[in-house]
Amino acid sequence: MAENGAYAAVAATIRGRRSNMNVDHAAPIDDAAIDELIELARWAPNHFRTNPFRFSVIRGAARGRLGQIAADALAAAGGQPPVVERQRVQFERTPVVLAVAAAPDADPVKHLENRYTVAAGVQNILLAATAGGLASAWRSGPAMVDPAVAGPVKAALGLAPDDEIVAYVYLGQQAGPPGNRELPPAVVNRINS
Ligand SMILES: Cc1cc2nc3c(=O)[nH]c(=O)nc-3n(C[C@H](O)[C@H](O)[C@H](O)COP(=O)(O)O)c2cc1C
Repeated sequence: MAENGAYAAVAATIRGRRSNMNVDHAAPIDDAAIDELIELARWAPNHFRTNPFRFSVIRGAARGRLGQIAADALAAAGGQPPVVERQRVQFERTPVVLAVAAAPDADPVKHLENRYTVAAGVQNILLAATAGGLASAWRSGPAMVDPAVAGPVKAALGLAPDDEIVAYVYLGQQAGPPGNRELPPAVVNRINS
């Protein structure tokens, strides 16, 4: 690997990225920073140049309003009260939540690959946020994985019913360091002949 500053910076950023929900709730993130993260996401590899990204920037009172929509949907679907209550306040855990969704495609291969492109873009966001000093975390939960909850949330975000939320990226100014974690060993097959 080339011994240069760019490689060292990228490697350090990748190794230094940790989910961090420990944010300063009084410290805003300006629109320009969010726009920059959105732009960087879109540099992810995209086989068919389909432009599958659908971004929703959730801030301020919208966080509570969307949390209420998600909580109501979860309660109607039979969710347990503690889980419903967690959902109600979930989006208020950081000043900005960026929902990142993948557009569908009639072609099954493009449909699948749209999701992979958007997932790669989410990692771009997390790495750029880390390098820029922001706390970030990729989270899912019922508002992403339970269609009964994700449906009303997508409608409130202006997404189409077939758009697939790939991540809720929680963003804030760091109030403290993230935790650490051990990586499991890599599982690698080396096929040489
Ligand atoms: C698709 C996806 C969904 C995730 N959903 C959640 C979640 O709902 N709640 C959560 O605490 N972390 C969630 N995470 C974050 C991982 O749990 C986190 O990356 C993992 O704990 C490793 O920690 P690290 O990010 O600090 O390396 C999700 C990550 C991915 C890729």
